[in-house]
Amino acid sequence: MMRWWHVISIRCVLLGLASITNLRAQQPASTTTAADVQGSMLFASNCGSCHGSDGRGGEHGPDIATDSDVQRLADSDLIAIAKNGVAGTGMPAFGWLGQEKLTSIVQYLRTLQRGQIDIKLPGNPKSGEALFFGRARCSECHMVNGKGGFIGSDLSLYGAAESAGQIRSVVVDPEKNLPPQKKATTVVSHTGQKFTGMLKVDDNFSVSIQTMDGNFLFFQKSQLTHIDLGSYSLMPANYGATLNDEQINDLVSYLLHVGSENSKRSPTQSSKSDRDDE
Ligand code: HEC
Ligand code: HEC
Repeated sequence: MMRWWHVISIRCVLLGLASITNLRAQQPASTTTAADVQGSMLFASNCGSCHGSDGRGGEHGPDIATDSDVQRLADSDLIAIAKNGVAGTGMPAFGWLGQEKLTSIVQYLRTLQRGQIDIKLPGNPKSGEALFFGRARCSECHMVNGKGGFIGSDLSLYGAAESAGQIRSVVVDPEKNLPPQKKATTVVSHTGQKFTGMLKVDDNFSVSIQTMDGNFLFFQKSQLTHIDLGSYSLMPANYGATLNDEQINDLVSYLLHVGSENSKRSPTQSSKSDRDDE
């Protein structure tokens, strides 16, 4: 809804049909100001083609919205990077825009970093939610907002730190796109028995895995002949075939939407590093 007004207000500015302030009166929940609108237009036309309209990265530029190293840079550093570019990389210099425009671009980038601007969703989050808990059976393994399974990670905040493209690539091809530590570990005992599950403990002497049925198995390393870390992904590999493009877009939209809602509620929990520590 807010996104819709946002788009309309940009159009009206372009056509000179209505003042921004009139439209703003009709969107009480929004914190958008005239400066944001200018910043968002400048960002879209100068930076979005490489960094994505949400700043979360694209084919030609990295994520500059949720990347914590970029978030930590001072405004003056961000302005300097935009002004001078990064020599020897694909990041051009935008000094010709002038200080004032660069400042409003960086201010807009800050709002993207805080997740305050509704991100553009590739599909319908409501249909995505229905798929997640229904036909696609994601909730058999993943929890969102307290509902669902446990063998996969809790995805309540996942979308807050990932781009649509990243989520899509995991859903369509988890085998290729999940890092080894998010894949199953297989252990083989001296008697030749094999056990597979998610690795929970791995220290000098012991290993513990959680199997698909939820049980924890503990092994002394001396009991095992083989430990295959990150052997294969437990996530179904065929979503690219069983779901069509629109359904995958809906699922991606659901995770982006729920992640952004949850991170607004508890901003301190949304950072990537917290999740990776689990
Ligand atoms: C033609 C593609 C392109 C455009 C357009 C572009 N960038 Fe970049 N940008 C890049 C690439 C590629 C990098 C990575 C540079 C590197 O490897 O260090 C980058 C890096 C950055 C970084 C530094 C990230 C870091 O890790 O330190 C910032 C900040 C940034 N861009 C902001 C902007 C802003 C603001 C704009 C618009 C005014 C913009 N970029 C336009 C391609 C682009
Ligand atoms: C049979 C269990 C299972 C099902 C069903 C399943 N997943 Fe997964 N998924 C996993 C496991 C296991 C992982 C890797 C461990 C983890 O989540 O960090 C994973 C990883 C992910 C990740 C990456 C999480 C991260 O932290 O990097 C995403 C996103 C994801 N799944 C989305 C989905 C979606 C969307 C569906 C439904 C279309 C789905 N999964 C269905 C088991 C499953």
